[in-house]
Amino acid sequence: MVSPKPEADTASAGASANRLRLVLLGPPGAGKGTLAEVLARRLRVEHWATGDLLRLAVRNGGVLGAELKRYIDSGELVPDELVIRLLLDRMSDGGAWQTGFILDGFPRTVEQARQFDMALQRQRLRLDLVFHFATSTPVIINRLSGRRVCPRCQKSYHVRNIPPKKPGVCDQCGESLVQREDDREATVRHRLEIYGAESALLLQYYQERGLLAEVNGDWDIELLYRTLISIFDRRALVTSAERDSLLAATS
Ligand code: AP5
Repeated sequence: MVSPKPEADTASAGASANRLRLVLLGPPGAGKGTLAEVLARRLRVEHWATGDLLRLAVRNGGVLGAELKRYIDSGELVPDELVIRLLLDRMSDGGAWQTGFILDGFPRTVEQARQFDMALQRQRLRLDLVFHFATSTPVIINRLSGRRVCPRCQKSYHVRNIPPKKPGVCDQCGESLVQREDDREATVRHRLEIYGAESALLLQYYQERGLLAEVNGDWDIELLYRTLISIFDRRALVTSAERDSLLAATS
């Protein structure tokens, strides 16, 4: 007789949308942050974006903040050990291991992926799925040149695709929207080069573990969202009732 595995040790045990542990990979401007926000709200899971955590550390100032700002503004990756420590500390502080979560912008390197897997193993957990948003360069340039972000609550908009109700003002908190320093075209091109150099091995890492699902990042958000839900359904990561309610969600 085969003993049942403990629930925490199985990826899809007791399929439940709010226990999903997901990673969104893709180039800058692929829409990871935008979709992660929608998915996290509808799945009721945590959204961890290392870019946001790092920008918060920059705003907190000090020597570390100044050092991180140099990496981010130039489009370089922050060293692995700094990012891993920051993310794991924040996740542990927030008790995040007990709930589902979406990682957005992490991991960026195979070393980050390995270290995160080890942290999951210590909690007797593993990832359920890794989405790769394959996105074309003209779409990326268009999205990043039109992106505006709220410096207070981090909500992201696009001047044409996803405009705020009042131009230049955050719908959520009323702050004036700004353009990110690293969204200038030369820096975007450098970020794309770095992504190209790091991503192949990272995608292979997750492919070999049977976790990778490829989606077309050029699509609009609702189509992408529906595609992700159908992938959860095909992999039995959600129940049919959860699938139907996630497909019906509008907020
Ligand atoms: P980070 O903030 O993670 O930036 P990124 O990965 O380069 O991704 P972006 O935020 O630019 O794009 P996104 O895919 O989230 O797109 P979004 O949804 O906003 O990292 C910034 C920097 O921090 C890095 O360069 C590095 O220095 C450092 N860093 C972060 N993580 C690190 C790590 N793990 N290791 C080392 N260093 C790290 O969408 C973009 C625009 O398009 C928006 O205006 C949006 O409204 C619009 N849009 C989105 N989706 C769609 C759609 N489907 N249709 C139409 N418009 C859309």
